[in-house]
Amino acid sequence: MNDQAPVTEAQKIRPVPTLPDAQTVTEVKHWTDRLFSFRVTRPASLRFRSGEFVMIGLMGDPDPKTGKQKPLLRAYSIASPSWDEELEFYSIKVQDGPLTSKLQHIQPGDEIILRPKPVGTLVHDALLPGKRVWFFATGTGIAPFASLLRDPQTYEDYEEVIITHTCREAGELQYGAELIENIKSDELLRELIGDENLAKLRYYPTTTREESPKMGRITDLIRSGELYKDLGVEPLSPETDRAMICGNLAFNLELKELLEEAGLEEGANSDPKHYVVEKAFLD
Ligand code: A2P
Repeated sequence: MNDQAPVTEAQKIRPVPTLPDAQTVTEVKHWTDRLFSFRVTRPASLRFRSGEFVMIGLMGDPDPKTGKQKPLLRAYSIASPSWDEELEFYSIKVQDGPLTSKLQHIQPGDEIILRPKPVGTLVHDALLPGKRVWFFATGTGIAPFASLLRDPQTYEDYEEVIITHTCREAGELQYGAELIENIKSDELLRELIGDENLAKLRYYPTTTREESPKMGRITDLIRSGELYKDLGVEPLSPETDRAMICGNLAFNLELKELLEEAGLEEGANSDPKHYVVEKAFLD
């Protein structure tokens, strides 16, 4: 006997979301076997500041005893700018990671869970006015900067905008390289940010385990002074420089130490200073 209620006409037209806080995947791009990015619909009421993160995820496996499913959520920086109609995320794929082992298989039309409560420290409000802003990233830590670099305020606030991105292999730089290329060539972005402002943007990619035009950890390149020489800029100083850091834990700590040695102090939303740090999602 079939005891399922018949599907009503209204249900056919407007399917009931299967997940709480559901958003629909609109695009997925696989960059390497370890990295992918995806775009999802944006809740109409979601407002965020470029650089912030939200909790996103999928339903976990059913509990073997109760059969109940719980949401499996992780913090993800929003990689799209605050004016974008959709939301973009950039993620690592960990084959035995609880979330990313599943998330890496999403397809357009699938649903993910997105809790619409953006927070984070990598925001302009947490920095005092300065002349030059540095965005230091490793791996997927470039995500919040993908948002900030498409935000006109970044260029309005500073005379120079420098993004450094360090990855193990050259293929892992691709997302960032295309982002920078796109910012400089996309008609809409050029119109929004302005060519004069875009001239302030400098991109400094490096690799550590595979040959590329610039090799080395950014921390070593700072210590040796090579970074400043390559860019033709003065060393970091609290009078002129502001910085945001996002990468793996060891990198964050080492860079923090270097900035402190240079006299920069850590800021927060409630107490803006010279630099801010956030850990990139790792799972
Ligand atoms: P390395 O290859 O020398 O470890 P991961 O993929 O492990 O998150 O690393 C991303 C990038 O960050 C790699 O190029 C890695 O270099 C670099 N990295 C890791 N730890 C540090 C650190 N303490 N300081 C600077 N760079 C680091």
